[in-house]
Amino acid sequence: MTKFKTQCIGLFAAIPLMAIAAPAQAQSVIGSGVPASTAGNSQERPIGFAEQVPATAALVILTQNGELLDVPGLSMTERGAVETAIAAEGFKGKLGHSLKLRGIGQRPLILIVGTAKPDDKGADWREAAGSAVQKLMKEEVELAIVGAPDPATMTEAALGLALGQYRFDRYQYDVDKSPASQKITIAGAGASEAQALWNGRHKHLAEGVRFVRDLQSEPANALYPQSFVDRTRAAFSGIPNVSIKVLDETEMRKLNMGAIVGVGQGSPRGSRMMVVSYRGASGPPLALAGKGITFDTGGISIKPNKGMWAMKADMSRAAAVMGATLSLAKSRAPVHVVAVAALAENMPGANAQRPGDVVRTYGGKTIEILSTDAEGRLVLADAVQYVADRYKPFALVDIATLTGSVGRALGSQYAGLFAREDAVADRMLNAAEESGEALWRLPLHPAYAKAVRSDIADVKNSGVTDAPGASAGAHFIGYFIDESLPWAHLDIAGVDWNSSSRPLSPKGASGFGVRLLDQLARDWTAD
Ligand code: BES
Ligand code: ZN
Ligand code: ZN
Repeated sequence: MTKFKTQCIGLFAAIPLMAIAAPAQAQSVIGSGVPASTAGNSQERPIGFAEQVPATAALVILTQNGELLDVPGLSMTERGAVETAIAAEGFKGKLGHSLKLRGIGQRPLILIVGTAKPDDKGADWREAAGSAVQKLMKEEVELAIVGAPDPATMTEAALGLALGQYRFDRYQYDVDKSPASQKITIAGAGASEAQALWNGRHKHLAEGVRFVRDLQSEPANALYPQSFVDRTRAAFSGIPNVSIKVLDETEMRKLNMGAIVGVGQGSPRGSRMMVVSYRGASGPPLALAGKGITFDTGGISIKPNKGMWAMKADMSRAAAVMGATLSLAKSRAPVHVVAVAALAENMPGANAQRPGDVVRTYGGKTIEILSTDAEGRLVLADAVQYVADRYKPFALVDIATLTGSVGRALGSQYAGLFAREDAVADRMLNAAEESGEALWRLPLHPAYAKAVRSDIADVKNSGVTDAPGASAGAHFIGYFIDESLPWAHLDIAGVDWNSSSRPLSPKGASGFGVRLLDQLARDWTAD
């Protein structure tokens, strides 16, 4: 059945609901009330492990040097033909190189994929598998991956496949074919051990990343503070040791959270603070706070039109702290984590806040708003004070698409890391190295703290200064965090959206931060 037909069924199913909504509720409907899709994304290729290669599968051979090791599923004659092709092409097994062969034996297709990182730095099974599955997105056949030498590398390859084959196509009705959905088998010795490793951790990590990419890709007419809360609740449903608390505007007002409520006051979609705790260990938690602006127009300090659409993804780090917690909770990790999503829609409107307004935050400190477009630091000011006060974490990491400045400094390969203490920075950099999500430390020089001093309030949220924009943003958030609490700030505005496909991250939403924070939480527990 074509995708078009499938989605039509979904649309018809939605009609009775819409009929009930009219006309009494017509006044209270926010947006059009007509969902653009009632379908999900197309089915991904399911991933499994086996000792043997399925008879009719297309074969993907991972190789570090262009030599074929013991490849299951190839007859002697087929092997000879593949070796001849490799030699003729001069294929040496470098990462990023591949060779597609058709017409060899009974296999519908054979893809040889290099895994060797430059400068003899070993093999990257994840990236090789991710790029392989992307090359075969349209091949409507079952796949078998061979060449990963042990259960650990087989699982790495599986993670690469899961991350690489992501698609966000729930709004594409008028297409003949969705990407391929036939299963993938990772074949080799130790398959059952690899399956257990996958089920224990990597599968959940992939699910956490998928959760973030889905929310990040959603347009802002579908994803706003309350629908973020609903979708996150649904994702955590039934997982043990998880508790969820959501503050609406009325509750936040009572707690003097004037900054997060203020950012949302120009929008009919109210702000929310969502807290998800996962208690897989006793002792104080690691706190993760994420910026969750479901759309950033800039507010009254409105942004230019060019590229503004991408501000639908300005909630992606609220999704990332939830995605990492989802992965930890689903894999029953022995850690205690509390994740906070600071959610608001930044719109101009009759009741929107203005440049020059002063707002009071949860702990009583005040902020003068010089730009309503520097709103991420405002919602985080309330979130970090609230979580530190109520949950008494042993450390706090905040993560945000905070400044264009960090993207200009670091480009699209590194997220910016700020920390007061070297020991905290080292922990973050280690987690970055282990997870494959790269960080680069930037200065939190005391001189730059002047950038946030205000003439009439405790701090101001922007202004003309000689401090780099990302450092000023980090200082601003740091102002609300006690010096005795180990803290790191991640400004990831340069890496949250890919303008072209990468092996582990197709064009679009990157899902950055899930793998990093999952790794960090496993390594950094209360002593
Ligand atoms: N959401 C933006 C930052 C951003 C820019 C994210 C590009 C992703 C891609 C943020 O709220 C913002 O507008 N920051 C301002 C801060 C300034 C007014 C101090 C900026 O970077 O220009
Ligand atoms: Zn902004
Ligand atoms: Zn923003």
